[in-house]
Amino acid sequence: MKRRVYIETFGCQMNVADSERAATGLRASGYDLCDSADDADVVLLNTCSVREKAERKVYTRIGEIRAAQTGKASPLVGVMGCVAQLEGDSIFEHAPSVNMVIGTRATDRISSLIERAREGERKVIDLDERGENDAWDVSPVERHSPHVAFIPIIEGCNKFCSFCIVPYSRGRERSRPANEIVAETRKLQSLGYKEIHLIGQNVNSYRPRVEDGLEGFPGATPFCRLLRAVAATGMPRIKFTTSFPRDFHPDIVTAIEENPNLCDWIHLPVQSGSDRVLKLMRRGHKRSDYLERIARIKSSSRRLALTSDIIVGFPGETDDDFRQTLELVEQCEYDSLYIFKYSRRAGTPAANFDDNVSEREKTNRFLELEKVQRRTQDNIYRSYVGRTLSVLAEKQSSRSESDLSGHSTCHKVVNFAGDRSLEGEIVEVLVTGAKTNSLYGKLIDRAAVV
Ligand code: SAH
Ligand code: F3S
Repeated sequence: MKRRVYIETFGCQMNVADSERAATGLRASGYDLCDSADDADVVLLNTCSVREKAERKVYTRIGEIRAAQTGKASPLVGVMGCVAQLEGDSIFEHAPSVNMVIGTRATDRISSLIERAREGERKVIDLDERGENDAWDVSPVERHSPHVAFIPIIEGCNKFCSFCIVPYSRGRERSRPANEIVAETRKLQSLGYKEIHLIGQNVNSYRPRVEDGLEGFPGATPFCRLLRAVAATGMPRIKFTTSFPRDFHPDIVTAIEENPNLCDWIHLPVQSGSDRVLKLMRRGHKRSDYLERIARIKSSSRRLALTSDIIVGFPGETDDDFRQTLELVEQCEYDSLYIFKYSRRAGTPAANFDDNVSEREKTNRFLELEKVQRRTQDNIYRSYVGRTLSVLAEKQSSRSESDLSGHSTCHKVVNFAGDRSLEGEIVEVLVTGAKTNSLYGKLIDRAAVV
């Protein structure tokens, strides 16, 4: 019988994409993938280290897996992803039952690492770089959805924001050749995928070594040319995330205006509204630079949804700095906002700053900002009532068996009554109600609108 591997994924879309890639490689090497740790011969935890809470989860999960396995043959356990890359062999000390530590660039070597562990080698570890010919291919059966696919276009990050662990866990930026990205988009389209997300820590820094595949596509930056090249494939819906303010060229908005299949949603994290804090964060942009980008987005001929990330309680953040963040958030009128309390990450420059905002104050700021955002967001969501949105029916709603759930082109969750036979179709939904983070509507047209 084939050995079964269970992969559990935490964290960002890049981890989801890495798990899909790892699963593809493992199946090609003769393993079966399964859906639960209980049935598995090998359990791989693909981990996130961006905040302390995420990192702690790994150890809790390892404990749970081992506790559940009493009496049965114990599976091999591997830690992959960002915690693996950062903690290296100290994981074996924290959690002696771990058999393998698999770094963020070792996804293509997992089957041989498992073989070594099976043969009895203890503490198998691989924190090396990616191989020259590493495969980016992902088999459709391993994708997280049969309708929406993630396509990594750039890995790593060179920005070194002072609070962020990503440049250390993911290494330097490496862009994927454009012709590969375009070919993958075409292939996904032929398989019936309706939506792709071009993903990376910082997609607008996309800079491939050679620009094969972008010839003939205009654009102010390689990323703008890539957007136009991908749009030209005719893939019905194209989203991209995450954008970095300093590299966000206004031509991105122009490309969206020219191509209806480039979706009307931009995620542009600002982190703080105070220039003093932005400088401490080493973001490389000021409040005014950011607002300039926003002005272009807001003045677009299409209404573009805008979302962002904010960190509250960064070391040294005063009441006045925080007021400036509140003000900026009100001014930007975000469709949605991810708010994080600052979490000290060992190894980052900010770890040496005095983390002098108390936990209580962080919580207060979090709640206050959430309140301000909630007000704007309620207004925005309510403004959709009575409008028709084009929605990709992705799955049955978790709340009700007679409802389907999907996303609009502006990346809002939309639920509506509908039969499962519509899954995978793009349908028109008249919005009839709004909650804080989702819309409710009714189907007005069965025909696929592409
Ligand atoms: N460019 C990346 C950012 C990754 S981290 C992307 O693809 O989105 C995601 C968000 O986590 C950041 O935008 C930031 O708001 C938050 N974050 C990162 N490090 C943090 C820390 N040390 N404490 C609190 N929040 C943090
Ligand atoms: Fe992190 Fe800043 Fe890069 S938030 S991922 S170092 S752009």
